[in-house]
Amino acid sequence: MEKLGGIFNPSSPEMEAMADLTYYVIAISIGILAIIVVAVAYIIIRYRKGSKDSSEPYQNFGDLRLEIVWTLIPVAIIAVLFQLTCSTMKTIDPPIGNEEPDIVVIGHQWWWEFYYPKSGVLTANEMHIPVGKKLLLRIESIDVIHDFWVPELGPKIDAIPGHTNHLWMGASEPGVYLGACAEFCGTQHANMRIRVIAETEEEFNEWQKQELVVPRTPRSGIAGKGAELFQTKACMNCHTIKGTPAAARIGPDLTHLNKRQTIGAGVLTNSPENLTKWLYNPQKYKQGSLMPNMKLSDSEVEAIVAYLEGLK
Ligand code: CUA
Repeated sequence: MEKLGGIFNPSSPEMEAMADLTYYVIAISIGILAIIVVAVAYIIIRYRKGSKDSSEPYQNFGDLRLEIVWTLIPVAIIAVLFQLTCSTMKTIDPPIGNEEPDIVVIGHQWWWEFYYPKSGVLTANEMHIPVGKKLLLRIESIDVIHDFWVPELGPKIDAIPGHTNHLWMGASEPGVYLGACAEFCGTQHANMRIRVIAETEEEFNEWQKQELVVPRTPRSGIAGKGAELFQTKACMNCHTIKGTPAAARIGPDLTHLNKRQTIGAGVLTNSPENLTKWLYNPQKYKQGSLMPNMKLSDSEVEAIVAYLEGLK
């Protein structure tokens, strides 16, 4: 079973601040409820109708002191909640300036593109981050409104076409944090998964270095045939593979596809068998996706899988 995310398992300073605020609000609410329950119980018992006494109790119409007290107490409670909320917002809210982001997140129907402007790395669906660092994310969309959400690491934030949003992202512990699109964006909204892979700075730097390597294009054998098919079939109209003429950004960048854990933004785990199934008919696994059924023959699928498997 997957563990509970969000406030139940905060794994970043931002999410810890949100969890603390939630617990404060719950504690204050329980305190108020307890006072009311005790007061009501006391009044019910203390002022219940006695067996002998049948007269009406004393009626009180207005008491200035009482009015002032029960106005000031809620004002004080709201002031405390306001202060707690402001200090939480200070931790969570990113700067509203033109600061260069560490990662640009672009929502597509139905996958995520991650661009690291400081290094030039371009990848999809799986975001690598160095642990313990506070990173600035810029959130965009290419088509409709999506919503970037990794519950253990931070709040939800909309990806809106023609508008940019910002988000702090960081992880306190190494690990894989799962997220998903949180705004209904079409039939495959549920298959727009996010994986945030938080690793040590050395591992992250090594990953980034590997991502920037331009792979050698095979010229012979079955993988060579696959590379050729990739350029002659419609694949290159949508995808990028660095070091080849394929440079389109309609679909995910496949330059280092074999390093990723999943295919199709989380619909299948990345394995030669699943890649084969996917290439035969992506629509079977992700109906409505922009990737069409290319009607490839057995030998064509085999060759393209051999080529893509080599993209490490
Ligand atoms: Cu993208 Cu829902």
